[in-house]
Amino acid sequence: MREDDSTRGTDATWWRDAVIYQVYVRSFADGDGDGTGDLAGVRQHLPYLRDLGVDAIWFTPWYLSPLADGGYDVADYREIDPQFGTLAEAEQLIAEARDLGIRTIVDVVPNHVSAAHRWFQAALAAGPGSPERERFWFHPGKGPGGDEMPTHWVSDFQGTTWTRTTNPDGTPGEWYLHLFTPEQPDLNWNHPDVRREHEDILRFWFDRGAAGIRIDSAALLVKDATLPEVPAHPGPGEHPHVDRDEIHDVYRGWRAVAESYDEPRVLVGEVWLADRARFAQYLRPDEMHTAFNFDFMARPWDAKALRESVQTTLDAHAPVGAPATWVLSNHDVTRPVTRYGREDSAFAFGAKRFGTPTDLAAGRRRARAAALLSAALPGSLYVYQGDELGLPEVEDLPLDVINDPMHFRSGGVDPGRDGCRVPLPWTRGGTSHGFGPDGGAHPWLPQPAGWGEVSVEAQAGDDASMLSLYRRVLALRHTEPAFRADFAWADDLLPGDATGDQVLAFTRGDLLCVVNLGPAVPLPAGYDVLLASADLEPGAAGTRLPTDTAAWLRRTPPGHATGTTPA
Ligand code: GLC
Repeated sequence: MREDDSTRGTDATWWRDAVIYQVYVRSFADGDGDGTGDLAGVRQHLPYLRDLGVDAIWFTPWYLSPLADGGYDVADYREIDPQFGTLAEAEQLIAEARDLGIRTIVDVVPNHVSAAHRWFQAALAAGPGSPERERFWFHPGKGPGGDEMPTHWVSDFQGTTWTRTTNPDGTPGEWYLHLFTPEQPDLNWNHPDVRREHEDILRFWFDRGAAGIRIDSAALLVKDATLPEVPAHPGPGEHPHVDRDEIHDVYRGWRAVAESYDEPRVLVGEVWLADRARFAQYLRPDEMHTAFNFDFMARPWDAKALRESVQTTLDAHAPVGAPATWVLSNHDVTRPVTRYGREDSAFAFGAKRFGTPTDLAAGRRRARAAALLSAALPGSLYVYQGDELGLPEVEDLPLDVINDPMHFRSGGVDPGRDGCRVPLPWTRGGTSHGFGPDGGAHPWLPQPAGWGEVSVEAQAGDDASMLSLYRRVLALRHTEPAFRADFAWADDLLPGDATGDQVLAFTRGDLLCVVNLGPAVPLPAGYDVLLASADLEPGAAGTRLPTDTAAWLRRTPPGHATGTTPA
């Protein structure tokens, strides 16, 4: 047990600076040996997460699902998919984690359900004009015979957003809307049943001890019921299916549900919006507590770009009083060691291509520095499973094992998101490097050669490993009071002739974080090194911070000699 476990349990604002670890259940650990990750596997590894130093786990959807989109196609929110376990196990897991000082955040997917959901099945069976269809977006087609889809909205997974149904007598019927795959019909959020049902789902999980929810595709729920085409340049709130003003009412209702508990529950939104002011509206005091900061995540490894993102992030959050979040990756995007090893290290959906040249050594170095940078910024921090091991994106998955609909809907041009979802390596050897029991089934996605060398076992005893770095980063974040102090840029402390175009430097209290993205620079005098992401360079004129390296420094107390040795 960490020393502060007991105090964290009662702190109602734990989420403001928490470290939240994302578990992609299917790929974390396979307890029963069928090749798919499950709740039993998570329970076995809870001590690992406690030792890593996380405050909470966000679980990607674990509900009953045909897994057409990795579980983001939910057939029943009140059941655990049998591949993952049972509801009783989920309840046990939440309680066991809590005993270790780790809270649970569950994923809620309000924009759509699975086509296998009882509501959608009932709607198909009931036919056009039925009340069952009003919970979705069923619509007659345009043109002669209704052969043309109602709008030309483009899917977030590329391609069209409408699929035509077949009437019971075999004739072509109405169309239904799906912003993602046809297996994920969109719900109609103007319908009172939809609102009531989701508030009830929230209570279902909050009553079982979930400390909060992650809200999937949170800006997409409400649609313009007149179904216009998307304007060429939609102004704020003018897009027919993104960020409509009416959506905030939904989250006000959810916040009220969250606040009705003795320990108020937390809402974390997946809000992809370029407009920072519109983004911040979701974080008003009666809406969500926090939302993922994808602006920071998508920026290239470039000091000016990162600095601008930090500043605009803090500026956008300040007026609503919400803490920022810092995210380097998740189950939808390219792993940081791969992304930062590329000439174009920004992230954009639809831009992934097979065979993009990557310098993994550079990427790893930068990902280590990025870990220190993101963990030193004020707000909460997200760590996607496997990033603490520095796993690269697996880019040579055989085409016949790829599962992700994004790949198929791009016509095979985009490799999709399976490369960051390859089952974790826990041990050097074994059938699946400890993902499942030895002798069990092979993992649902094959692990690449060399996976054992990046396993937890291989890294745990190695002081220079990514895992050891993450453990130190998270331990210091917990113990150093400076991480609760105000943030300020420290350009006056920039070493040598370095400029803000190459070095990011900021303080949190007496702690100074310096991240060097350019050639080596001298460290400022009068500071001790708490932690560095790579070996520092000794020099006659003082210690130097090499390229793509970050360091956490603390002002040397008066009367002490300056230390330069990393802890
Ligand atoms: C979110 C999820 C993603 C999923 C999509 C549709 O973006 O993170 O994995 O495919 O929503 O639910």
